[in-house]
Amino acid sequence: MIHISTWNYMKASQMDFWSLDRKKIIGFVVGFLSIPAKGRIFTIAVLAKYHNKGIGNNLLENICSVLKIKGAKEVGLEVRMSNFSAQKFYLKRGFIPVWVEKGYYSDGENAFVLKKEL
Ligand SMILES: CC(C)(COP(=O)(O)OP(=O)(O)OC[C@H]1O[C@@H](n2cnc3c(N)ncnc32)[C@H](O)[C@@H]1OP(=O)(O)O)[C@@H](O)C(=O)NCCC(=O)NCCS
Repeated sequence: MIHISTWNYMKASQMDFWSLDRKKIIGFVVGFLSIPAKGRIFTIAVLAKYHNKGIGNNLLENICSVLKIKGAKEVGLEVRMSNFSAQKFYLKRGFIPVWVEKGYYSDGENAFVLKKEL
């Protein structure tokens, strides 16, 4: 029962954006509004051959805008400590590292938790 209501809540608050190139999915971002005023980005990815064309930035801006419209005052996400290119991408867009989540990933790697005020 708890599982079902959690799922409903997630479904109601979850949001995603997809980038398409002639009907083919080339990028997506998934996030949700958690407790009031807090947005969370689960994942963002763009197909490698479409990198550095502004698609990731567009996806990130879109989800941050919608989170803000829905009442989020800040947005947070996790990034692998080894993922330097994604860290650079987020830092250039105003995200700030706030702490390290030890063993966050299933392979045991630590995550930087990043936040940005909206
Ligand atoms: C992180 C990720 C989503 C970024 O996506 P992207 O589409 O390459 O991002 P953008 O193109 O918007 O921005 C990347 C760079 O391209 C540059 N760029 C944007 N448009 C450009 C253009 N027309 N020509 C040349 N460069 C351009 C941007 O300036 C940016 O550089 P900067 O960060 O130094 O400012 C992508 O690298 C990815 O999918 N990585 C693998 C998955 C991943 O690690 N996800 C994050 C998990 S936490």
